[in-house]
Amino acid sequence: PTQLAARASYLLRGNDLGTMTSAAPKLYPHMWSWDAAFVAVGLAPLSVERAVVELDTLLSAQWRNGMIPHIVFANGVDGYFPGPSRWECRRLATNAPAGPDTSGITQPPVHAIAVQRILDHSRRHGRTTRAVAAEFLDRRWVDLMRWHRWLAHARDPKQHGRITLYHGWESGMDNSPRWDRAYANVVVGDLPPYRRADIDVVDPAQRPSDREYDRYLWLVEQMRRCGYDDFQLASTMSFAVEDVFVTAVFALACEVLAGIGEDYRMPHADVRELYEWADYFRAGVIATADPRSGAARDFDLRADEWIGTETLAMFAPLLCGGLPRATERSLLRLFEGPRFCGHPDLRYALPPSTSPVSKDFRPREYWRGPVWPVMSWLFSWVFARRGWAERSFMLRAEGLRQAGDGSFAEYYDPFTGDPLGSMQQSWTAAAVLDWLG
Ligand code: DGY
Repeated sequence: PTQLAARASYLLRGNDLGTMTSAAPKLYPHMWSWDAAFVAVGLAPLSVERAVVELDTLLSAQWRNGMIPHIVFANGVDGYFPGPSRWECRRLATNAPAGPDTSGITQPPVHAIAVQRILDHSRRHGRTTRAVAAEFLDRRWVDLMRWHRWLAHARDPKQHGRITLYHGWESGMDNSPRWDRAYANVVVGDLPPYRRADIDVVDPAQRPSDREYDRYLWLVEQMRRCGYDDFQLASTMSFAVEDVFVTAVFALACEVLAGIGEDYRMPHADVRELYEWADYFRAGVIATADPRSGAARDFDLRADEWIGTETLAMFAPLLCGGLPRATERSLLRLFEGPRFCGHPDLRYALPPSTSPVSKDFRPREYWRGPVWPVMSWLFSWVFARRGWAERSFMLRAEGLRQAGDGSFAEYYDPFTGDPLGSMQQSWTAAAVLDWLG
C-alpha cells in the first residue's frame, strides 16, 4: 500500500503543470472541472496548500454568471479537441471570464466535497496549514455560493428541483445509455468539419463513436449560435435532460457546503439557502424514484418522457438520501446484488457504469459498462458519510485491489479487470491517495 501511494503521488506530480494538474497526460492535457475537484481530494493528504491552488485555478476561470466551466485550457497546450478555437467562448459569450480559455458547458458539482476534504486534512496540521485552508474558504465562499446559485436557478428552468443539462458531456458520463434516446433526437445540421484527437491516443473501441461525436459537436455549434446564453439555451438546445445523478450530487454538495458554512461561521442566510436547495433538489431526485426499488430516473425535456436505464443513475438517491428506509434498503440490495456489484462474473465487487445484465451493456466502451474508480470512490465516501461504514470499507478494499495493477486507468473492464481508456488518469490516483491517506 505505501508503494501504491508513492506511485499515485508520483503520478500527480508528473501531471502537475504548475497551478493545474492535467486530467491525464495525453488524452486530457488540460484541467477538467470535476476531475480538478477529485484531484484536490487526492492532493489534500499530500499538501493542503497544493490542493488549494488546484481549486483556486479552477475558480479563477469561473464565468460571470457563476458557472464553473467543464474545461480550463492550459496555456499553449495542443492535442485536445474541441479546443479553445472551437468553443470561442471569449468572443461569443458575454459571460465568459477575461482570464483563461474555457469551454462553454459545465460538469457535475462535486467541488464542495473537495473543500470538505481539504478542511479535514488541514485540521491534522499546525496553525499555518489550517490558516491556508480557512483563508481559502473565506476568499472563495462567495464564488462557491455563486456556483451553487447558478445551478439552482439557471439550471432548473422548469423548477422541477432537478438540474438540466444541455450536453451529455455535462453529465460527465458522456456516452452512457442514459442519453441514447435524447441523442437520437439530435439532428446534426451544418457542422463545420473537425478531426477527433482522442482516438489518436486511445483505442477507438473504448471511446464514443464518430456518430456520437457528430452529435456532441453539433450541440457545441448550437451553443455557439446562441452565445452560450443561459436563457436561450433553455429554449434552443435540441438536447435537454434533467440529470438525476447530477441533481443528487448537487443536493449532497449543498448539504456538505452548508455544514462547512456552519463550522466556519459563514453568513446564516447562505447556510439557510444551501439547506433549502439541498431539500428541494433531494425532493426532485426522490420524485423520480420507483416506489418499490427506489431506482431513480432521468427526464428528457425534449421528448417529454422518463429515461429509465440500468446505470449508475439508478443509485442517485443513495448519494443524497431521502428515500423511506425500506425503499432505501431495496436500492442498496440492487446496488450490491447480481445486477451490479454482485454480478457473478465481476472481477471486483465494484459498481459497473452500466449493469452487465442490461442490453446496453458493453464491457469496454467508456460509460456503457466499465468500472470507473472515481465512481467507486464517490460511493465509498458518501456511504461513509451516511454511516454505512462496512459498505464504504468494502468499496475501498475492492477499489484498492483493482488499483493494485498500478496503471491508474481511467476505467476498467468489469469482467477481465483490464485497464482501459487513458492510463495515468489523475483522478484515479487521487482516489487511491484518499483511500490510503
Ligand atoms: C472527452 O473529451 O472525452 C471529455 O469527456 C469531454 O469533456
